[in-house]
Amino acid sequence: MASDGRPVEQDDSDPVMEDGRVYRNPTEVQMNQIVLPCHANHRQELSVGQLLKWMDSTACLSAERHAGCPCVTASVDDIHFEHTISVGQVLNIKAKVNRAFNSSMEVGIEVSCEDLYKNQYWKVCQAFATFVARSTGQEKIHLKQLAPGTHREQVEYSVAAERRRMRLRHVDLMKDLLSSAAFQTGVSVGVSDAEGQDEDREEEVPAERTRVESVELVLPTHANHQVNTFGGQIMAWMENVATIAASRLCHAHATLRTIDMFHFRGPSQVGDRIILKAIINNTFKNSSMEVGVCAEAYQGEEPLRHINSAFMMFEVLDEEGRPRPLPPIRPEPLHGRRRYKEAIARKKIRLDRKYIISCEQTEVPLSVPWDPSNQVYLSYNNVFALKMLAGRNSWILSSKKNNVGLYTLEENQTLCFRIESQVNVPAARAFLLLSDLSRRNEWDKNYKRSEMILQVDEDDLIYHVLTPSVTQGGKVQDFILLASRRPPCDTGDPYVVALRSVTLPTHPPTDDYNRGEVLCAGFTIYEVSESVSKISYYNQTNPGVLPYIATDIAGLSSSFCSTFLLCGQYLMENRTEPSVLSSSVTTPL
Ligand code: COA
Ligand code: ADP
Repeated sequence: MASDGRPVEQDDSDPVMEDGRVYRNPTEVQMNQIVLPCHANHRQELSVGQLLKWMDSTACLSAERHAGCPCVTASVDDIHFEHTISVGQVLNIKAKVNRAFNSSMEVGIEVSCEDLYKNQYWKVCQAFATFVARSTGQEKIHLKQLAPGTHREQVEYSVAAERRRMRLRHVDLMKDLLSSAAFQTGVSVGVSDAEGQDEDREEEVPAERTRVESVELVLPTHANHQVNTFGGQIMAWMENVATIAASRLCHAHATLRTIDMFHFRGPSQVGDRIILKAIINNTFKNSSMEVGVCAEAYQGEEPLRHINSAFMMFEVLDEEGRPRPLPPIRPEPLHGRRRYKEAIARKKIRLDRKYIISCEQTEVPLSVPWDPSNQVYLSYNNVFALKMLAGRNSWILSSKKNNVGLYTLEENQTLCFRIESQVNVPAARAFLLLSDLSRRNEWDKNYKRSEMILQVDEDDLIYHVLTPSVTQGGKVQDFILLASRRPPCDTGDPYVVALRSVTLPTHPPTDDYNRGEVLCAGFTIYEVSESVSKISYYNQTNPGVLPYIATDIAGLSSSFCSTFLLCGQYLMENRTEPSVLSSSVTTPL
């Protein structure tokens, strides 16, 4: 048992309790299925629709285990399918609730596959779905909080709040980007289109040739005991029409690679007729195509209700398993042309999202250029990285002076440090003061000047920071830092100020300064009592940062302590001043 009462975790293996039992999350649900011919397509591969149904029902059972009442699928984040699964193999699905919010919960789903005869295991995909608890009456349910049982669960719990923020902004973000003037003028439709066509490609195929429409009647087997249609069933029907549209283009089997994040806009019940429509929106040079699917419901004479729209990326493989080039699409006028352009924009956003979000912090290059279309993902990556760093359980106390602790952590060839102390300042006030980077030079001699150059949104700002040279007579260093400020999402959560380098075309490196880069840094601020907070500063060092702290870590100096004492003094002096932030900090989502 760890000193904080949690079970001990060793690497990736299941954590073990003091009495020798393996720890198990109380909301975890597992499903194991042997893939039979009735679950497969004509190529003897598990159909993705069936997989989505199993994933949704496992996740729903996990959500209901926590909520204690019926739950419905509200949304599913991007899913990337890494492998196909064959008849005879065993599918294992594990789902557990990462965090409960008000009436909604984030459920993490992991899918792996096992070949019983070859004794092999592999990962198929990972997904995050949001379920909403429904009461039988009109009132909104308020779910009980989840108590993370391990450090890993604590980290998942913490980053789930940031994923929720990204999810809830997704729809607006897509709308804004697709209608933005820059995007509209940057994409043209036709043979000369930069993304879609070149001279070697075959003749264009009219998009309407790929159009599919299909109807399904919702029967009791497609719904839960509250007669609500299972989200997984709707997804399976959507995948079915999308696969037909995709295969129509190339007269070959199309493999589904990615489903974009989507939202179930309204409920459906037994007796609904579900109309599913699909068409190819665009094909791309890398042999992939985007198929859009729309699901609508009606009963009797009622008008159609929009249930869901999803965008799926397919590719076609040749006999050797290599991606096969696809013919270009000629979109229909009006909506077809709009969707054709939007598919190009979604492709860029999808790549940003996959690249920035699914990579480890150390794999995302420091020089990621910031732009409005990847802002949400860079901010997510920023906060995620800091929360992951803070959530590590192998920090070692390196030295302590005047109640300021210096901790270090060595992992994957990188050295991280944490400086920690308590101050007699309310957490909200400390957050307000520390999240304003333009005042950091008032207490940190390593910040010569810090100027806000872009207010991205209420909680994210970009600063230009100047720091003294580490070598005598050397050039001043400068940094372009994205600062993401997050108030707590719930009691027990810390305030977070996450910092990472980005690049901005408006602020390229100049001869006057040495451009430095920050991998991951920032503050977490916990409320200890109404008037006391615990402040931790984190930094994942790189060769540029190490000289500032090396002598402290080696025990040769304690400048970390004097800097942090100055920080405490600054907070004390300003503890009652009116807000001086360069912009307001919003309340949590
Ligand atoms: N992704 C994740 N969660 C979302 C979301 C999205 N795109 N949109 C809303 N939510 C969450 C909200 O954050 C809120 O969570 P909270 O209570 O923990 O704060 C919760 O859903 C309810 O939001 P609210 O604003 O009260 O309701 P709404 O009018 O936005 O409705 C749904 C949200 C999901 C309940 C509604 O769209 C719905 O009923 N969808 C159909 C669900 C369904 O039946 N699915 C099965 C297949 S049809
Ligand atoms: P949008 O038109 O903004 O893409 P919709 O929700 O109307 O959003 O549709 C989602 C996707 O479903 C479309 O991009 C398109 O690919 C497909 N779709 C919509 N309507 C039809 C239709 N009548 N026939 C075939 N496919 C359709």
